[in-house]
Amino acid sequence: MRTVTIPLLFAVIFLAALFIASPSQIHAAQPAGKAAETPQPKDAPAAAPEKATPPKAAGANTFNRLMKPKSERNPTQAADGIHDPDNPGTPQLQPPKEAFTNFSNSNAGNYINWVQTLKSNAINPRYDRQDPNAEALILDLDIVREVKGSMPDVVYPHDRHTAWLDCSNCHPDIFIPEKGKNAISMAQILMGQKCGVCHGKVAFPVSECRLCHSKPKTPAAKPK
Ligand code: HEC
Ligand code: HEC
Ligand code: HEC
Repeated sequence: MRTVTIPLLFAVIFLAALFIASPSQIHAAQPAGKAAETPQPKDAPAAAPEKATPPKAAGANTFNRLMKPKSERNPTQAADGIHDPDNPGTPQLQPPKEAFTNFSNSNAGNYINWVQTLKSNAINPRYDRQDPNAEALILDLDIVREVKGSMPDVVYPHDRHTAWLDCSNCHPDIFIPEKGKNAISMAQILMGQKCGVCHGKVAFPVSECRLCHSKPKTPAAKPK
């Protein structure tokens, strides 16, 4: 008889406790429990998919050679981590700093304004590796991406990209070629996705906000 009463007593206390606890308390307990597992579920929705692979996030900027301290940019080929320093041909290559002397300057990245350098014909890059006479297929189409909040809107210029790049460099792998079809966020760009596939690596870095956020917001029409 006694062995039955004690579990029964526990069951009654448990049910009573459930009954007394208001529904709001029960609900409040759930998100709190989830918050314990994930560090910032509310503020960082864009970063959430990355939580499965924290090492990648931790190394977000190791590839980002254009974000290195100024003194470490444009090193000689022997020190750039790309060329083989033991190859006797490596020191024969013209060091970037020497090659860049007559190019237009910028304030970031490798400190060259490549758009201006190309425009002024200071360089004449091949559009096709094998065909020296191939001409760039330049598309003059600006895409404006409205940005929520106070940052100016983003203007993506096709002309300044297609002067160097082929459509297939971006379409369809990085961007679906349809205005507004692609969700783009600053978090992705900083992680080396979307615009960040190139910007910060081979094109001007993310620190140059105004080059992308170049269209001031039109002030809301004033009621008269
Ligand atoms: C550097 C990357 C890049 C290159 C290179 C590029 N595009 Fe795009 N393209 C974009 C982006 C970004 C968008 C905007 C997508 C969005 O708004 O979601 C876009 C949009 C488009 C659109 C949709 C326009 C609209 O109004 O819906 C077309 C068409 C297009 N591109 C064609 C081309 C063609 C043709 C080429 C080659 C001559 C080219 N693109 C090269 C990045 C690129
Ligand atoms: C496939 C590589 C690639 C991608 C992806 C890419 N860019 Fe570029 N972008 C370049 C290169 C290369 C240049 C020219 C070199 C430079 O300015 O550093 C350039 C130049 C620009 C310029 C011109 C800057 C000037 O001085 O006039 C703007 C603006 C720009 N990019 C914005 C964007 C935006 C916004 C996105 C994403 C929607 C994007 N780019 C995606 C490679 C890329
Ligand atoms: C390479 C181009 C580029 C550069 C450089 C850049 N942005 Fe952006 N930014 C974008 C694009 C593209 C979007 C997405 C716009 C949209 O919603 O379609 C964006 C969105 C944003 C947003 C809206 C919220 C979000 O995360 O999507 C903010 C805020 C913002 N950028 C701030 C900045 C600041 C601050 C800088 C400089 C430190 C900067 N951006 C540099 C391209 C750029």
